[in-house]
Amino acid sequence: MSNWISYWSDKTSPLHAEDNPNFYHDLAREVLYHCGNLSGKRVLELGCGDGALFEFLGIDSAKYTGVDFSPALLSKFRNRHGEMDLHQEDLLGFLEKCEGEYDIIFSYGVLQYLSPGDVTAMFNMQRRLLGGGGKCVHLGIPVSEMRGVFHSGLGSSEAIGGARRSLLKKVKSWITSRIGYWHDIPLLFEESKAAGFDTRVVSNIYYLYRVNIIQSI
Ligand SMILES: C[S@@+](CC[C@H](N)C(=O)[O-])C[C@H]1O[C@@H](n2cnc3c(N)ncnc32)[C@H](O)[C@@H]1O
Repeated sequence: MSNWISYWSDKTSPLHAEDNPNFYHDLAREVLYHCGNLSGKRVLELGCGDGALFEFLGIDSAKYTGVDFSPALLSKFRNRHGEMDLHQEDLLGFLEKCEGEYDIIFSYGVLQYLSPGDVTAMFNMQRRLLGGGGKCVHLGIPVSEMRGVFHSGLGSSEAIGGARRSLLKKVKSWITSRIGYWHDIPLLFEESKAAGFDTRVVSNIYYLYRVNIIQSI
């Protein structure tokens, strides 16, 4: 895990496929599709980065809490929203000691930096923080079932049509890409159920090799 802290410590963008407002607006629409209207809701975002999605989610600043261990990304977020409740720390440590109650807990593109054991710990800790009728939504989880799709160059809906990767490029991609953990869909599902959630695993709209997990109580 410390490996990922140093990896993210000096990044100046969340390293999505694109880095522009239109793109983040589209990703945010998928968050809202699964979370519902976030206005008036108490929201906890795990791995919030520089708040690229926040601008498009319609969340009340006073009801938002963001956690991220990257000082560089969090300081960008603070520069735009100094008034908000932002925590620079590991999300597992935050969850462990958090006393708050939330309607929605979500993340986008974060679970790949947690081992399967840490994901299980996270599922159990977040359950404790949910108010009645609350929901957890984790989007953009790379899954081992779709790993070959990623290495073939068919990683996003935009890549389809253009991608024809040579064997050399495919092999290079297996060796060099820094995705983090490729999780297993059945394991995610079972661990989520064991933590007490009604669970759905659905495809991610933009990243074809990723899924979203929707957890309700
Ligand atoms: C791909 S970026 C996504 C950022 C943001 N969710 C977004 O979609 O714009 C992944 C983020 O997760 C954060 N992160 C990864 N593991 C973390 C952990 N264990 N605790 C806190 N933050 C973490 C990184 O610092 C980084 O900001």
